[in-house]
Amino acid sequence: MNLHDSEHIAGVLQSAGYRPVDAPEHAGVVVFNTCSVRASAEDRVWGNLGALASRDKRGIVAVCGCMAERLGSQILERSRVVDLVFSVGVLASLPELIDECAHSRMCETGNVQDASIDCLPTVRRGDRAAWVPVSHGCDNQCAYCVVPAVRGPERSRPSEEIVAEVEDLVGEGVLEVVLLGQNVNSYGRDLSGNATFASLLRDVCRVQGITRVKFETSHPRDLGEDILEVMGGEPSACEYLHMPVQSGSDRILAAMNRGYTRDGYLDLIETARRMVPGLTLTTDIIVGFPGETVEDYLMTRDLVLQASFDAAYVFLYSQREGTPAASMEGEVTEPEKHRRFEELVGLQDEITGNSLSMLVGTEQEVLVEGPARRGDLLSARTRGHRVVLIGAQDIRCPLPRVLITAAGRHALRGTAIDRSCARGQAG
Ligand code: 5AD
Ligand code: SF4
Repeated sequence: MNLHDSEHIAGVLQSAGYRPVDAPEHAGVVVFNTCSVRASAEDRVWGNLGALASRDKRGIVAVCGCMAERLGSQILERSRVVDLVFSVGVLASLPELIDECAHSRMCETGNVQDASIDCLPTVRRGDRAAWVPVSHGCDNQCAYCVVPAVRGPERSRPSEEIVAEVEDLVGEGVLEVVLLGQNVNSYGRDLSGNATFASLLRDVCRVQGITRVKFETSHPRDLGEDILEVMGGEPSACEYLHMPVQSGSDRILAAMNRGYTRDGYLDLIETARRMVPGLTLTTDIIVGFPGETVEDYLMTRDLVLQASFDAAYVFLYSQREGTPAASMEGEVTEPEKHRRFEELVGLQDEITGNSLSMLVGTEQEVLVEGPARRGDLLSARTRGHRVVLIGAQDIRCPLPRVLITAAGRHALRGTAIDRSCARGQAG
């Protein structure tokens, strides 16, 4: 979601005549769009601001995003290089704010609930794939999470607006959309009428010309069979589900206020795999939540083995001020947290490696996203959201069929099967 907000920041600045430069030292304006989910994300921002402070010459420095919502003018007090702190909700007036803050430092944060930036100009990450928010904010109260406080309650966009945006994107040549929400599955609950995520997903999948529809993030409590039915039945709905489990211990899940049990989660993924053949399932896990005993952790480790996720993002619990978990007893020591983290990451790496190697020798339709970070390869994604690196020379169209030739730790290698394009897509 933050990356998509950054596409709007770039869009607004570009419309006002700004152009990107290749390094911060050449910039007239530097905008930090920040995340507050874990302390480490905030620490990186302070580090980057510190690095800018050591330069004599620098442009206007602005900070927005979750840290701006959480800390407001405290950011101006703590870092003397910051000229402007602003809410993404006032993004439309960023060019004027930049002019004003050149005279005196400013903090323009306010009611995040009024934020409606969906219709602002956008500079997208690529020509063929696009993020489309379906809702902003979150109505859940997961005990560890700062998101509801910084992004406000859930506000769903009208479904006609979302479908119209997808139609426009298709008109511009986009082949894949990723529908975004903190909890996409609860989409529509705040709208009058009977909009549900399942009906929205079906409508988006049926937009003429869209070839792939993905979405994230799913909450196990709100992922109903109606959604799985659409995923299994609509050809453009991709076989990809990112559904954080967070813990394998019922005691910790209850303390986290997640609203499901370990067995409930395991049953749900069994249903999902049955209803959506070939599903790629990924998850998030937190280790070291307050009160997590060795037994609780072992339940998580056991769930990881049992669930056999295609990938899992493991996080060290990070205490966030103002969240219910911040005042819970039973802090897990740092070394113990790290021990659990390392063990779980090692275990999941093996499972991820196995899941990737199962794809070697298969044919996959991939969407080319752009140059890979290293070498002269292209980076592409399967319908299951797996990264595939392919040689640039034999790709003529954005949606080629490739043969998977090798599996690395986190990505696949592939070669184009022939030079014709899948589904008649010309380059
Ligand atoms: N500490 C560690 N991880 C967290 N997450 C959210 N809040 C915290 C926290 N306080 C993780 C969850 C979520 C992902 C986006 O970030 O696993 O799914
Ligand atoms: Fe945070 Fe829970 Fe909402 Fe996800 S569902 S954003 S973890 S409160």
